[in-house]
Amino acid sequence: MRSKIVVANWKMNKDLHEGLQLAARVIQMLGNRANRSAQVILLPPFIHLDAIRKLLPKSGSLHVGAQDCHVHAYGAFTGEVSAPMLRSVGATFVLIGHSERRQHLGEHSALLTQKVTTALLHGLRPIFCCGESQQVRTAGHQESFVQKQLAAGLFHLSAGQIAQVIIAYEPIWAIGTGSTPIPTQVQAMHYAIRSTIASRYGEEVSQNIPILYGGSCNAENALCFFVCPDVDGGLIGKASLEAVSFVSIVDALE
Ligand code: PGA
Repeated sequence: MRSKIVVANWKMNKDLHEGLQLAARVIQMLGNRANRSAQVILLPPFIHLDAIRKLLPKSGSLHVGAQDCHVHAYGAFTGEVSAPMLRSVGATFVLIGHSERRQHLGEHSALLTQKVTTALLHGLRPIFCCGESQQVRTAGHQESFVQKQLAAGLFHLSAGQIAQVIIAYEPIWAIGTGSTPIPTQVQAMHYAIRSTIASRYGEEVSQNIPILYGGSCNAENALCFFVCPDVDGGLIGKASLEAVSFVSIVDALE
């Protein structure tokens, strides 16, 4: 059975005090629920990672990860943070290829391919983001667009390596906008993503890869996406900044 996963992408929000408060509340609320089946991954800003990881129970379904890592493991890259550094503070996941970084920081496919390799080499599970613009969807080319992103970013991996990857489908036009695709559109894309993985790695590998939906997913609409057979959870931005709404999304998955 595939893992069910909800990821909180805090982006560039919360100072340390606010971040600790939010994480503590989420941990407390989730801790009260028996038989939790979903994995929950918090992605705070880099500088909060160590402190937040220390709040987490030693074992269980709560984890921390980073919103990015540098392509190199160390060196003269002023201001950057590397995968081994993230591992050393207890991060076990890293977001790679978020559309905001593709768009505003010029992160291109070749760089993302290398970042995925670097992350895996240093023990971080990549959460690889893909998704089309409004223009691409209007033209009806969303599936071929996303297939190209997947091939460029992931198809250099071995079957063993890709088994460590989580895929997040986030249509750019739904991120932070309040508009979302309808569930049948989300299911169609997730099915296309799984088929693309199957065409390269076979059916068994593709059936085990978690594929998350992201883009204005919130406490009100999460369930209608999570009931789709190829949707294994969510990548949550705005609605992860408040404990009650975020935990309601986790509840919707369970
Ligand atoms: P949103 O962001 O939930 O605020 O749309 C999702 C994301 O960018 O990961």
